[in-house]
Amino acid sequence: MTYNVKHVTYNKIKIALPDVVEKQYDVVIGGDLADQLVVFLKKQKNIFNIVIITDNNVKKLYGEKLLSNLKTSNQLVFINLLSFSAGEQHKTQKTVTDLQNKMFRLKCGRDTVVIVLGGGVVGDVAGYTAATYMRGIPYIQIPTTLLAMVDSSVGGKTGVDTVYGKNLVGAFHQPIAVFVEPKMLLTLSKKHIKNGLIEAIKMFMTHDKEMFDYVRDNYGAILKLDKSVLQKIITRAIEIKARVVIRDEKERGERAILNFGHTIGHAIEKLSNYNLLHGEAVGFGILVESKIAELLGKLSSDVYREIEDILGKMVKVERLKDYKIEDILRETKLDKKARSGEVTYVFLKNIGRFCTRGGKFVHGVDEKIVKKALTYFI
Ligand SMILES: NC(=O)c1ccc[n+]([C@@H]2O[C@H](COP(=O)([O-])OP(=O)(O)OC[C@H]3O[C@@H](n4cnc5c(N)ncnc54)[C@H](O)[C@@H]3O)[C@@H](O)[C@H]2O)c1
Repeated sequence: MTYNVKHVTYNKIKIALPDVVEKQYDVVIGGDLADQLVVFLKKQKNIFNIVIITDNNVKKLYGEKLLSNLKTSNQLVFINLLSFSAGEQHKTQKTVTDLQNKMFRLKCGRDTVVIVLGGGVVGDVAGYTAATYMRGIPYIQIPTTLLAMVDSSVGGKTGVDTVYGKNLVGAFHQPIAVFVEPKMLLTLSKKHIKNGLIEAIKMFMTHDKEMFDYVRDNYGAILKLDKSVLQKIITRAIEIKARVVIRDEKERGERAILNFGHTIGHAIEKLSNYNLLHGEAVGFGILVESKIAELLGKLSSDVYREIEDILGKMVKVERLKDYKIEDILRETKLDKKARSGEVTYVFLKNIGRFCTRGGKFVHGVDEKIVKKALTYFI
């Protein structure tokens, strides 16, 4: 279309992409992963390369076996396995660049699909590698930690940490499929099971009281890795996350609810030099942010105590004393969700219900209240 305004001619072309079909994908929970993956891959057209990306621990546990299974079943496709050192310290641009350079050397083109095999760190790093390799290639998530199963493998957030804070560089890039095999949790430590459970219970606190009670009542069975209990928790957490992401993929509003506990949590995680697990830090964040809600009169003291009871089983609350209040406050200001200096929080009004005000899901709060809440713990 050509326009002529005040003797200046300009052209305007509307780019309205059709409904993006590739953003629809299935999350399959349970069943035989190897079989399902093989069937799924066979249905994909124009795939000539598969790159499995994992970390060095998961490589030995599941990566090499997956590589040999896929090689047997896909003889016409080039399949490679790449890995990097495990741990949050390696969730960096450097790791992404190293992986991409290896993919260039393997001559991977846009006809490549990445299989992300691992926990949340692998998901974020390898998802971002796929999001930016040749301007974006498809990827499949196979989460191997409880945290990745209930949360990070779904929703398309990928990225890396920087010296300025967590997840500050990244992209929204949805996977083309997610395959969850709860059996893989059998090799995971109790510490990491609790770590993942915190992200699940976070979602139940904001959206599903019945499931919050279910976790409390089945806590022993969860730690014993009871298959049906875990399957139910994973399925319900993914349902909640998917519902929120479908309504607000790019976190312009409602998706921010999933950051409950994360304003304080990210600050503490960074101050611990990433020695605390992500879920542990979020657990502390949930406690402090619930305390703020209690001090503001939004949450009753009885409900606060319920939250403290369950989280007290999953994190060592006294470890909060390792941190200084001023340091936490400073770090919250650097959090990427702090807009023009305002640090915002998600508040519960009850288990299963969160506060909204004027269509907003996150809220600023007087720093004195945050300080008071932190003083309760520190
Ligand atoms: N993208 C998102 O939406 C999102 C959401 C929540 C968290 N995250 C990110 O997730 C990350 C944390 O993820 P995580 O807790 O899974 O950590 P992780 O990926 O570091 O995994 C934890 C440890 O468990 C090992 N491991 C993985 N699977 C195993 C298995 N089945 N058996 C034995 N060991 C296994 C790993 O090698 C690692 O040492 C953080 O970086 C966080 O920011 C992302």
